[in-house]
Amino acid sequence: MNNSDKICFVFDNQLTEIDFTKSEFRPSTTLLNYLRSLPTHKGVKEGCAEGDCGACTVVIAELNQQNQLEYKALDSCLVFLPMIHGKQIITIENLEQIVNKELKLHPVQQLMVENNGSQCGYCTPGIVMSLFALFKNHHQPEKEVIEDALTGNLCRCTGYKPIIEAAEKSCCNHGNDHFTEKQYEIIEMLLSINENKKSISLLHKEQEYFLPLNLKDALEFKKLYPNAVVISGATDTALRQTKKGEIIPQLIDLSQIEELKHFTKNNNSIEIGAGLTLEKAKNEVENIFPALFDILKVFGSLQIRNIATIGGNIGSASPIGDTLTFLFACKAFVKLQNLTSVRKVAIEDFIIGYRKTDTNADELITAVEIPLIPENVIIKSYKVSNRKDLDISTVSASFRLQLSNKNSVEEIIIAFGGMAAYTIRASKTVTYLIDKTWNRNTVEEAMEVLKTEFSPISDARAEKDYRAMAAANLLLKFWSEISLNQKD
Ligand SMILES: Cc1cc2nc3c(=O)[nH]c(=O)nc-3n(C[C@H](O)[C@H](O)[C@H](O)COP(=O)(O)OP(=O)(O)OC[C@H]3O[C@@H](n4cnc5c(N)ncnc54)[C@H](O)[C@@H]3O)c2cc1C
Ligand code: FES
Ligand code: FES
Repeated sequence: MNNSDKICFVFDNQLTEIDFTKSEFRPSTTLLNYLRSLPTHKGVKEGCAEGDCGACTVVIAELNQQNQLEYKALDSCLVFLPMIHGKQIITIENLEQIVNKELKLHPVQQLMVENNGSQCGYCTPGIVMSLFALFKNHHQPEKEVIEDALTGNLCRCTGYKPIIEAAEKSCCNHGNDHFTEKQYEIIEMLLSINENKKSISLLHKEQEYFLPLNLKDALEFKKLYPNAVVISGATDTALRQTKKGEIIPQLIDLSQIEELKHFTKNNNSIEIGAGLTLEKAKNEVENIFPALFDILKVFGSLQIRNIATIGGNIGSASPIGDTLTFLFACKAFVKLQNLTSVRKVAIEDFIIGYRKTDTNADELITAVEIPLIPENVIIKSYKVSNRKDLDISTVSASFRLQLSNKNSVEEIIIAFGGMAAYTIRASKTVTYLIDKTWNRNTVEEAMEVLKTEFSPISDARAEKDYRAMAAANLLLKFWSEISLNQKD
């Protein structure tokens, strides 16, 4: 492998390099901490350092496959510096301009002022950056789109009404602004960085950080450094550093590998690349898998979905990983690869314990394959959480049902998150339901079996009895939604 040892990005409209051998920063320094170390970029704020408040929101512009700029809002507290290699960073300081010696605010800033969208102002730079990404991506967005753009930004004093009004009034000229005037210049700069296809090894005294630019190099790094921690979007892993103060000695960052970002559909299945962001996956599956779309709509916030990946959700094997129950219900497969071979493992064999997966030390997850759902099969997914948006599940569930002509249960899969140390099937309840008539009576009996099938924990989110009852009630909800549809 022929490696480069620096990262390069566009910042304040200039090419900017960081050579970690000479820098005070360790590679996994967050973008937030880097920006706050600069006297000129203190607008970005730290609230929570865990992706919940949005005070640290910045926007990155990156090249898509047509070499056009795509703008995305991100939580800079969760972004390691090498993840911005080859991209443009835009902060609140870049939005205003001096025109004829006068300060000219960006339309989203101006309308925040005119609509009294700010009080204490702590959240405001983050909110303005989310609105800026909305401005660049949407013309006259629906209220739902505006609210989605703001779910990752908490404001404790202003209230969202004036902020939403500022969004409605500003997003009305197809994203034209002073960034549009400069876009070709920026594209040229980004192309010049991305011309150099060499993977990057950042060797710092405290940390080795590998940034492969293609899958082959990634697999070579994984073979050479089997104990290195792999990251895709790092929304799960970054918290080890930002909340627990851990310095991870070796990291392999897959965020720049285009081969892992595919979405393909054939006659029998779809394949989602492990590195496809959840926001892109959400947009792709809307009409194919509404049950997955429904989960992804309430997954984290837009800032999280803009970098979190499906590979990371599967790889984290969290007991409350939101895509997992759906993948169980779909009988999905995880694709794994090392330098010499590829293998496919059924999702439920892949998750082998609390945050444990069947991944060999030299392997990477490359994709998930989801068989298409036959017409006579129904799949639905549910998430119970304390807040609708930007909250992790207390209990999650997916159901797959196939009924016979006589309305008896031919096949049913019930998978739960939050009920055990890992995503789990409700096998006893399923055995009870098989071949029985699918009616309310049977379902209520099955709910009693379900209530005793698991021993969930009590924690800050919910008591164990609540979890057991919520799980049983989700089965009833599934039944009643299907019955309503059948009556229609
Ligand atoms: C504010 C916030 C909100 C969140 N909300 C939700 C939510 O609503 N629902 C939910 O389920 N989760 C949520 N999460 C958790 C997290 O965002 C998701 O699990 C996400 O899908 C992780 O993806 P990632 O690419 O960022 O993972 P990373 O942090 O990059 O990786 C996670 C794990 O997977 C492994 N891994 C990643 N890619 C690969 C690969 N290609 N091959 C092998 N191993 C790999 C890593 O080694 C690591 O162990 C939230 C997190 C935050 C911070
Ligand atoms: S500081 Fe709260 S989301 Fe980053
Ligand atoms: S204006 Fe004070 S937190 Fe939003």
